[in-house]
Amino acid sequence: MRPVPEYKIGPVPLFSAIRFARDPLRFLRQGFDECGETFKMKLFREFIVTRDPAFFRHVLQQHHKNFKKGNSVKMLRPVLGNGLVISDGDFWLRQRRLVQPAFHRERLLELFLTMGELTAAFMEELEEFRGKGAIDIDAKMMGITSDIALKTLFGNMNTEDKEQIYRQVSRTQTYLVTRVRKPYRLPLMAINGEDRRFKSDLAYFNSLVYDFIRKRRLSGETPNDLLQLLLDSTDEETGEQMNDEQIRDEAITMFAAGHETSATGLSWLLWELSAQPEIVARIRKESVIFETVPGFEQLTKMPYTRQVVEEGLRLYPPAWTMTRESTVDQHIEGYHIPKGSSIFMSIFELHRNPNLWQNPTDFNPDNFQAETVKNLAKFNYLPFGAGPRICIGQQFALMEMQLVLAALVKRFDFVREPGFSVGMHPQIVLKSTNGIKLYIR
Ligand code: HEM
Repeated sequence: MRPVPEYKIGPVPLFSAIRFARDPLRFLRQGFDECGETFKMKLFREFIVTRDPAFFRHVLQQHHKNFKKGNSVKMLRPVLGNGLVISDGDFWLRQRRLVQPAFHRERLLELFLTMGELTAAFMEELEEFRGKGAIDIDAKMMGITSDIALKTLFGNMNTEDKEQIYRQVSRTQTYLVTRVRKPYRLPLMAINGEDRRFKSDLAYFNSLVYDFIRKRRLSGETPNDLLQLLLDSTDEETGEQMNDEQIRDEAITMFAAGHETSATGLSWLLWELSAQPEIVARIRKESVIFETVPGFEQLTKMPYTRQVVEEGLRLYPPAWTMTRESTVDQHIEGYHIPKGSSIFMSIFELHRNPNLWQNPTDFNPDNFQAETVKNLAKFNYLPFGAGPRICIGQQFALMEMQLVLAALVKRFDFVREPGFSVGMHPQIVLKSTNGIKLYIR
């Protein structure tokens, strides 16, 4: 058995934690440069960090029963409750079976129509910015993907509630990430109003969602949205349905897991394409088959656009990391991994691992050409995770990203401000440091 190499990060844990909080990607890259594909490091507690595809395979698929969601995910519990992202064991399995039918192909086809309508309206909205100053593309992408998520989940929602939700979601994320990355700030947060504001944001959000559930149950209506699917879904073995709390947890989980990820993926794509005229030209060539937004059948006839989306998710994976906790003593790739170990799997580093990818930092959609994909090892590319806990919204997200991207690229040019550069700053998703600003022409 080999010992897991240790990334020695200095004698004062607090200083290292601050360095990690400032720039996690750089901090981890140094670890990989020094130690190789897998290492351990101690911040406030010990983590085993990996970008080895065999490690991912072991944890996510071959021996997934020997792991549960780690502590880092549990920080989301106040918001996500016991929804799919958080839950474990039999409860998770039951919920997964109940929620899965919401994402079957024929359901997705219906949701696709809603996506198309909202995207067409969004394009008109963007016209207003054509030829004017640079805009925050990330904010715009969050706008369209949360509109899509809210409408496909809850049907109609008034503008005031929507705007309130946008503001709260971003505040809540900053709050939760700060608690995990900067635990030394906890005492301050208790007295400077941050804890209080978080609680009141959450109370507002909960009352909104419970209100939706109650009204829907009373209305006797059965519109075609995900909320209705959650309300109707029945456990085949027991005949049981979800109670209001479970529905709240799953609905919020889907909203939280499902909109910022796609928005961030789209923002990075537009940033990248603003420097890639040849790729833009190829997307436009495929886009001649539709007018404003592509239909579902048309999307299937746009393989290159799909490759561009896949390459975007490689170079800028919105869910940049996954964590698990080992529930037994075990061996992984020749290392002894004791029970209770926290495993930190960096999707970001897996996708840029120079041992797996040629020119890993180049944006190259040919990485996903049909012929190349045949030889792509399954665990080298995992933007949606793998194994039984693979992203339930994968097809939804791919459809949405391809649809929005094709429509935008066909109609607009996205142009960089000279001298503006973006940095990456991962929160729960892989955000940019200071937003992504582009001109629309
Ligand atoms: C580009 C967009 C998206 C990315 C990159 C993404 C990525 C991921 C990843 C990597 C996981 C696995 C996490 C783990 O194993 O620890 C996951 C799980 C999950 N995702 Fe997504 N996701 C996206 C969009 C969506 C959408 C649109 C929805 C719902 C509408 C969604 C709902 C979920 C849920 C519920 C889980 C937990 C599944 C389970 O544990 O059973 N995601 N996602």
